[in-house]
Amino acid sequence: MPESSSASSTAPRTVSERAHRAGGQPISRLMHAALARPELISLAAGFVDQQSLPVEAVSEAMQKLMADRSAALAALQYGTNAGYAPLRERLLDMFRAADGHPATEDDLTVDQFVLTAGSNQLLHLVCETILDPGDIVLCASPTYFVFLGALRNLGLRSVGVATDTEGIVPEALDETLRRYDEAGQLHRVKALYLTTYFDNPSSVTLALERRPQIVEIVRRWSKPARPIYIIEDTAYRELRYVGDDVPTLRSFDPSGETVIVAQTFSKSFSPGVRVGWGILPPALVGPLCDQKGNIDFGSPNLNQHLMFTVLEEGLYEPHVERLRQSYRTKLEAMLEAADKYLAPLPGVQWMRPEGGLYVWLRLPEEVDAGVDGALFQRAMDRGVLYVPGEYCYPSEGVEVAKNTIRLSFGVQPPERIREGVKHLADAVADVLDSATPSPSLEAGAAKATKAD
Ligand SMILES: Cc1ncc(COP(=O)(O)O)c(C=O)c1O
Repeated sequence: MPESSSASSTAPRTVSERAHRAGGQPISRLMHAALARPELISLAAGFVDQQSLPVEAVSEAMQKLMADRSAALAALQYGTNAGYAPLRERLLDMFRAADGHPATEDDLTVDQFVLTAGSNQLLHLVCETILDPGDIVLCASPTYFVFLGALRNLGLRSVGVATDTEGIVPEALDETLRRYDEAGQLHRVKALYLTTYFDNPSSVTLALERRPQIVEIVRRWSKPARPIYIIEDTAYRELRYVGDDVPTLRSFDPSGETVIVAQTFSKSFSPGVRVGWGILPPALVGPLCDQKGNIDFGSPNLNQHLMFTVLEEGLYEPHVERLRQSYRTKLEAMLEAADKYLAPLPGVQWMRPEGGLYVWLRLPEEVDAGVDGALFQRAMDRGVLYVPGEYCYPSEGVEVAKNTIRLSFGVQPPERIREGVKHLADAVADVLDSATPSPSLEAGAAKATKAD
């Protein structure tokens, strides 16, 4: 693995400022640790379950696609900047059905759908389209650390807003916007980024009652000449194992001027196919496609035709249903193991997610779970790897809670998940033990103080 460029900060700068800022990504460090110690149980990677990947569905769809010569030739040619129109039409129908919005209720059109190489590309394009260096993106705290890296890379500021078990706190959002207004800085606030279903890393789903409030607050502080957008990341929406779906923030923005939706087939189907998309406010479609035109003038066309065929042939829904069953079992394994091994430890807390791929742990205040803290190394010695929660905090506005951990149950089979959680609990116990002075030492320290 190449060395991170940030390691050589004193060397003459041979790359751009941007390339320099891209160095030292958490993901590189974690992958390095995982590769160096293949025997570790990784509860770190946010990858989807390797064994559930849709080999048969993709094979069937690909054969079907290639059997029709003219369709095959079209799929193997460059596509269009915004992406394959029949797939975009389908996504429009699916989005309406999921949100329970008949076509008559808003003006959403297929032109507002842009296909990208995964939703990360969409997020990046959105940032390049609406933000200038020094601009501010408000983020739920904690938030998806890859997105925070993208913001840093582009010279943007990420400012955290408080969250609780129901998602971002509306009053805290309002207060943050008020503070920027009072400081004469509101014009720098251009967006709010939220993962509204089973957040990465916290697994929190934004409560239904809060959804219209969040849209209302942002719209109230937004002005036509300097709009504030909501970037609604819905990457995990379809991975729900318990309870009922809720409509998007976008559904509380019928004019569609405020909310940008980012969505992907990476989690619900295959990250290797890497088809993502955005639903954009009409005013952003042209500017974002202009950005995209300079980058790839259209994401891989074959993958888009493939996904269309998968949907047309009815291969998608059964796959998602199988996935839900498999992840439900894995989530249960993680929660059972947490109840068994972590619950007896003092001050360890977690939420019981209804979907997604993560369980977010909060340890006692004194435990530093950061990559340079005692627990990270201790956990690796015990045989388990996790994502330190410290990576998931925006750079301003909130304190970094170093006593937090993201665990993922996506990759490992249930037995390994249980084993990994047990190793982690043992490591936490080791660190707590070593942080508690033994009675004899305490007595000794007290004596020494008296003698002084
Ligand atoms: C919250 C969130 N958004 C977006 C993505 C990006 O997915 P992709 O680019 O594969 O669509 C991820 C991937 O882990 C994610 O966790």
